[in-house]
Amino acid sequence: VIIFSGTSNIQLAEHICTYLQTSLGDVQISRFKSGEIYVRYEESIRNKDVFLIQTLSHPVNENLMELLVMADAARRASARSISAVIPYFAYARQEKKDAPREPITAKMIADILATVGIERVITIDLHAPAIQGFFNIPVDHLTALDRITSYLRTKKIEKPVVVSPDAGRVKTAEKLAAYLDAPFAIMMKKRPAHNKAKVTHIIGEVKGFTPIIIEDMIDTGGTIVKVVEKLMEKGAKPSYICATHPLFSDQAQKKLKHPGIREIVVTDTIPFEADASNHYTVLSMAP
Ligand code: R5P
Repeated sequence: VIIFSGTSNIQLAEHICTYLQTSLGDVQISRFKSGEIYVRYEESIRNKDVFLIQTLSHPVNENLMELLVMADAARRASARSISAVIPYFAYARQEKKDAPREPITAKMIADILATVGIERVITIDLHAPAIQGFFNIPVDHLTALDRITSYLRTKKIEKPVVVSPDAGRVKTAEKLAAYLDAPFAIMMKKRPAHNKAKVTHIIGEVKGFTPIIIEDMIDTGGTIVKVVEKLMEKGAKPSYICATHPLFSDQAQKKLKHPGIREIVVTDTIPFEADASNHYTVLSMAP
């Protein structure tokens, strides 16, 4: 087995290697002046089981292309097998057509990965679990839920209520609520435009409770802020926000500096520079 990292999340790749008591393989990744990507493995990978670690966060398209070029180089260097470790799988939010003449990018990316010789994908908390079925190769779909649960147990939160910010997260919220032996509530959300959320109503009791909002990702922070505001309006206490993937686009961290937010619990699937004035906890997915 030999592990290589793309440039998107070297910290996590190194952390994974520490757990495996090994070190990252040597690979050169550079750019031509035109922006085209160059990859060369600096050691033989002939007949080796190659693992490529690359998260698909900002800049998404660059990181995706880097992974594709790495896989192509590995295949041409006679690797025995190529597995892609993709902690955050981008393009997953377009997993079905919501309107005519739209793409299904999650399926498109699944197809492209197989085309360049990737034979297995290991990923974490896909936006929709059904995306596993878009691949014709094995997918190990891991979750951060156990780590989030263990962390929350240490907090001994009084009167917790697990909140699903939309219909898509209900199953996860239900699981977390069962693990924590807590009730759960569901928010109903509408999307008037991309990255714009409107919370319409809440199902479940939240007054006097401490909400634990569970999300797959925080992108612009718009959804979380809308959910938190609705919860405050309904008499809930400041919330714990738990999300696997901290995309934190635009002014997300600024938006998350909100009196209705007590703590933000995320994982290291995506590296980010934490704004010191926000209360973040970053759980590592390396183990
Ligand atoms: C959408 O259904 C996802 O689960 C997240 O709620 C959403 O993508 C978060 O995006 P933002 O932070 O921009 O509201």
